[in-house]
This record gives sequence, C-alpha cells and structure tokens, in this order.
Amino acid sequence: MTESQRTTGFNTRAVHAGQAFEPRTGAVVPPLHFSSTYAQDGIGGLREGYEYGRGGNPTRDALQEQLAALEGGSHAFSFGSGLAAEDGLIRALCSPGDRIVLGNDAYGGTYRLISRVLGPWGIQNAPVDMADLDGVRATVSAGARLVWVETPSNPMMKVTDIAALAEIAHDAGALLVVDNTFASPYLQNPLALGADVVVHSTTKYIGGHSDVVGGAVVLDDAELADKVGFVQFAVGAVSGPMDAFLTTRGLKTLGVRMERHSDNAQRIAEWLVGRPGVEKVLYPGLPEHPGHEVAAKQMRRFGGMISVQFTGGEAAARKVAESTELFTLAESLGGIESLMNYPSEMTHASVKGTELAVPENLVRLSVGIEDADDLIADLDQAISRL
Ligand SMILES: Cc1ncc(COP(=O)(O)O)c(C=O)c1O
Repeated sequence: MTESQRTTGFNTRAVHAGQAFEPRTGAVVPPLHFSSTYAQDGIGGLREGYEYGRGGNPTRDALQEQLAALEGGSHAFSFGSGLAAEDGLIRALCSPGDRIVLGNDAYGGTYRLISRVLGPWGIQNAPVDMADLDGVRATVSAGARLVWVETPSNPMMKVTDIAALAEIAHDAGALLVVDNTFASPYLQNPLALGADVVVHSTTKYIGGHSDVVGGAVVLDDAELADKVGFVQFAVGAVSGPMDAFLTTRGLKTLGVRMERHSDNAQRIAEWLVGRPGVEKVLYPGLPEHPGHEVAAKQMRRFGGMISVQFTGGEAAARKVAESTELFTLAESLGGIESLMNYPSEMTHASVKGTELAVPENLVRLSVGIEDADDLIADLDQAISRL
C-alpha cells in the first residue's frame, strides 16, 4: 500500500489501486498484457524491468498492487491457485525440520499439502484447536516456524483472535500466517492485527464470480517478501494474464458484494435457528456463536458463509444438500451465486478419518447475492422434506 492509498477508503482503493488509465490512448481499463516476453533496448536494456512473463507481467503486477493495497501490505504475489500460493509461501519461509502449527479444522487441501506433499520433504505439522489459546501456546512454544490459522475456519466457522495468536506466535519466534479466504480483505485485515502473512484462495470472494482459479500471498515485510518473490519467480506457479485480469475485475466490486453476502447470510442464519431438524447453525453473526465477540472486534461484518448441522445426522444433511434448487450443489464458495456443499464427501474428503474430519451431519452454505426471500424459500422446501 502506498502512502497516498493509506488515506483512501477500501472501495476507492479497490477501484483505483494498480488501475491507472493507459497513457497512450487513455483507455480507462488498463490493457490486458498477454505477451510472454519483452523487447530489450540493447542487451539488458529492460523497459520498466519487464523481461519475461514468469518474472513479471503488467496485468499481474496491477492485481498484485491492488491486493497489497486492500490487505494493507507492502507486497503481494499472485499465484495460479490458493494451494500454489500456500506451497510457494511455505517453501520460501520453511526449511526441512521446521514445524507448522495449524488449526485442526484447516481446509482439507491445506492439510494435504502440508502433510502429504511437504511432509516427505521434512516439514512437520501439529494440528491444534485454535479456540484453546493456552493449548496453542504450549504447542507453539515447543517449536514452530509458522502458526497457520483460518478465521472464520472452513467449514466449522471457528473464530480465532488474530491479535492474541500473533502474540503467542511472536513470543515463540514463529510467524503468524492467516488464511483470509473466508473473510476477504473487505471484512478483515490480519496484517493490521499483527499477522505476518496473509494467504488467499482468490478463487473465492476476491474473484467473486466462480470463473477463475487463483491464490495470493500478502506481506508487509521486505525481507520476507524477497523470499516469496524469489520462489514465485524461480518455481513459476504464477497466475496467467487472463486469470489476473478477471481477478482484478472481480476485486473492484468486493466491498459491495461482501455487504450483500453479509446481509443475506445474517438473515438466513437467523431464519435457520430453531427450525425443526436443525441442530446447530454455525455463523459468527449470531450472538450465541462462541466467536461472536471476537468476530465483532476483528471483522467489519460476519460474511457469507454458514454451516448447518442436522438432528437427523448424515442422511438429513445429504438430503438437504441434494434437494435445493437455487443453491447449487458444488465445490468452492464466495461467488455471487449461492452454493451448497457437503464437506465430508466434497471439499474435505481428503481429511476423512483424520483428526481434521468434518461432522457428517453438516452442510456448508455459500450464500450468494440473490434475493434473500428466494434463498430462504429454497432452503425451506429442502428442509421441509426431512
Ligand atoms: C480456506 C481455503 N484456503 C485455501 C484454499 C485453496 O485454494 P485453491 O482451491 O484456489 O487452490 C481453499 C479452497 O477451497 C480454501 O477454502
């Protein structure tokens, strides 16, 4: 984030950061640069540092500037997926023998990456209950390079106090990484709360339209940023120009979308509470949610994700998941359209049977920006079949 961006509001930064008009024609939307290589004015005579597409691309740079401005970081790096971003980050900051302490309800793919891909290369992992900060402190003080948290978490919607966790990590000489995918930078800025690194699956709210896969790492430390930038360049899991362009376009409207997602989700969560067949509604905007106060302190609003557990167990959850019409049964989240997910067999199938397994009576809703009355009617007809 530049000094002048610091004085502007979120939505102004979303629309303008990295988006200056093109000087030759005045095109208000900066052109999409597909070129894989750049002409040199004599050997080594690079124009504005551009040499080759893996190392730099103006469309990707524009997205990276926009991401840094919105998360309040000095540097952002855009990758081909959220998991590519996580892999690049871990390989940049960890060495064989290092330990990552992560939430025991982390996204299944994150756990799979850390345990099954990076584990054989010497990275150790220690899953913990992030709601138990004393327990986290004990585990972290036994040794950690990274403390890794999702808040709200996917799909258990646990909320962790980022400032408190940053203190625990820093006391033990570890870095705090926050996966901010569920909240998005509009609702929560972990760097301002003391975290060292933010990661995103930009596939979700940042892209916002279910039409592009991507990931990002944002930091506010030049030395750490150099390391991540080197891996991004040397390994090359970069986002392509078209993906970067679509992500930038989505990100411009993040603020208005998140307001609407939050309005709809709050209404739906309140409607779900106490309905016959519903055992528990996991949504941080409900006053009875154990993380409500912390969420109210560190988030602007409570977001668009709700998990629901049913008294009828697995059969009931499956029935609801397969009975909605407006809520489409699909992986992913954070798009303008509402999605329904049965995590135990879908997004979190990779952690089935482990301590990160998701309850089988749970469905996860990604509440879109449609009319709330229509979404409630759809859930009503699905839940009434129980
Ligand atoms: C919280 C969270 N982090 C990371 C990822 C991985 O991102 P991607 O699917 O873009 O690789 C996901 C994907 O669902 C996610 O939900």
